[in-house]
Order: sequence, then C-alpha cells, then structure tokens
Amino acid sequence: MTEILTAKADGILTITINRPDKKNALTSAMYAAMADALEAAETDDAVRVIVFAGNGGAFTAGNDLQDFLNNPPQGDGSPVFRFLRAISSASKPLVAAVTGVAVGVGTTMLLHCDLVYVGTDARLSLPFVNLALVPEAASSLLLPAMVGYHRAAELLLLGEPFNAETAKEYGIANAIFPDARVLPEAMQVAAKLAAKPPTAVRLTKQLLRQTRGDVAGQMAAEGVHFRSQLKSAEAREAMTAFFEKRPPKFG
Ligand code: COA
Repeated sequence: MTEILTAKADGILTITINRPDKKNALTSAMYAAMADALEAAETDDAVRVIVFAGNGGAFTAGNDLQDFLNNPPQGDGSPVFRFLRAISSASKPLVAAVTGVAVGVGTTMLLHCDLVYVGTDARLSLPFVNLALVPEAASSLLLPAMVGYHRAAELLLLGEPFNAETAKEYGIANAIFPDARVLPEAMQVAAKLAAKPPTAVRLTKQLLRQTRGDVAGQMAAEGVHFRSQLKSAEAREAMTAFFEKRPPKFG
C-alpha cells in the first residue's frame, strides 16, 4: 500500500496520505490501511503519538467519489467505518498537519484529532449536503459543540470551503503556519507529547473525551442516513456531475 505511508520513530507514528494525483482522495483500501495502522498503534508501546499528514500539497479531497459510486460502504464493518471507529476511540494523542484541501472526512477527521495545525493556504470543507449526503464521523454532534450551532449549520448546510483563519477562529485548528512549516511544527509538538508520561497523557485524553457525548451513537445514526442517501438518485447525480465537470441538477 503506497497510498498510505506509515513511519515510526521516536515514539511517533506518522500516517501520510499519498495519492497526490487524486488530491489524496481516500479509497476503501486506504481507509483499511489507516484503520490497520491505528488499531496496531493501540497496543504498540513504541507508539506514543500519531501524526496525520498528506503528501503533494493536499491533506485529502475526502472519500473517493468513484468509490462511492462503484463500491459504496455496506455497513458498520466497512473500511471507512472501521477507520472512523479507530480514530474516534484512539487512546493516544492524534496530531494533524493539514496543508491544501481537507474535504469531507478530511475535515471531520480533524474533530477527532487532539491538536490540529493548518497551512496558510488550507481549504477545509464539509460538502456532504451538496453531494446529497449527510454528515459523518459524528460531525453533526461534534461540530456544533465545537463551533456553535449557527456556524455548524452554515458549514454543514451550505458546504462552502473555509480557510485557515476561519478554522482557527472557530477552534477547529490550533494554529496556522506557512505550508512548508506545518509538518515540522506538528512533529515538534508530537515529540513534546511523546516525551511526556504516557499514562498521564492517555488518562488526560480519556477525561477530555468523556465530555463529547455519544459519539459512537451519533456516528451509527449518521451511517444509516449516509448509506441510504448514497443509493439515492440525487447522490448519483451530484457525483456524476463532479466527474462530468458540470453543475448538478436536482429535479
Ligand atoms: N474522488 C475522486 N477523485 C477526486 C476526488 C475525489 N474526492 N477529488 C479530486 N479527485 C480527482 C479529480 O477527479 C482529478 O482527477 P483527474 O486529474 O483524473 O481529472 C484530480 O483528482 C485532481 O482534482 P481537481 O478537481 O482537478 O483539483 P482541484 O485542485 O481543481 O480541486 C478539489 C480540488 C478537492 C476542490 C476538487 O477536486 C473536489 O471538489 N473534489 C471532490 C471533493 C469531494 O466532494 N469529496 C467527497 C467529500 S464527502
């Protein structure tokens, strides 16, 4: 699997999304590889912190839309749900280094990271409604709690891209760096975390997470609508229109 690269050094596992020709869009196989890496990290004492990054100037363009059309997730056992379960229940700190686009799950996965650093030119977006889908990764629960209801409604109902400044202002990102500095800064923070007492770090994260409500329940509820919407004519039209480079028409 060259489209997900993992590297382990000095207590830090780095998971790099590496499909730059498709803006790092995520296929089922890529979700499975990331889920495997996260699951293995849970029981690996050599991993204290996990860093997510993207190669080629993009974080990720979200789920591969061709995969959505041809190979939609079937249930809670599908690779995307395995990945979402793993990232939402990870006991070790997660740090994200975001440069370029972070679309769909590229933004919702940030809600599960503990520290998020974005590049000056980052473009985040949650275009689920525009694709005739619904929010996932418990973002319909976590986003309003993080940014406030009206901002969450704006981001999720309009689905328009927003920049690094807005991400920081809304509390989705901790700090903004020039693009070339994002990963080095994230690695420096990860190194600080890796040097701290691991049990205290994990317990602190666990306590923080207890304030977040029923993440698993919300993710399951979202999944029911997400999978049924994926089969809908309006979703097929939205995704076909993307590949045909035309505006979609909803009857
Ligand atoms: N699924 C499949 N292919 C994708 C993709 C995705 N999510 N995102 C980008 N690509 C492909 C494009 O089809 C294009 O392929 P091609 O070179 O074979 O034509 C290539 O990646 C580059 O994308 P392009 O659209 O030319 O780049 P851009 O810089 O103009 O725009 C995005 C980047 C991310 C804004 C735009 O590609 C986009 O909106 N992608 C869809 C994002 C999306 O809706 N994700 C699902 C969220 S649930």
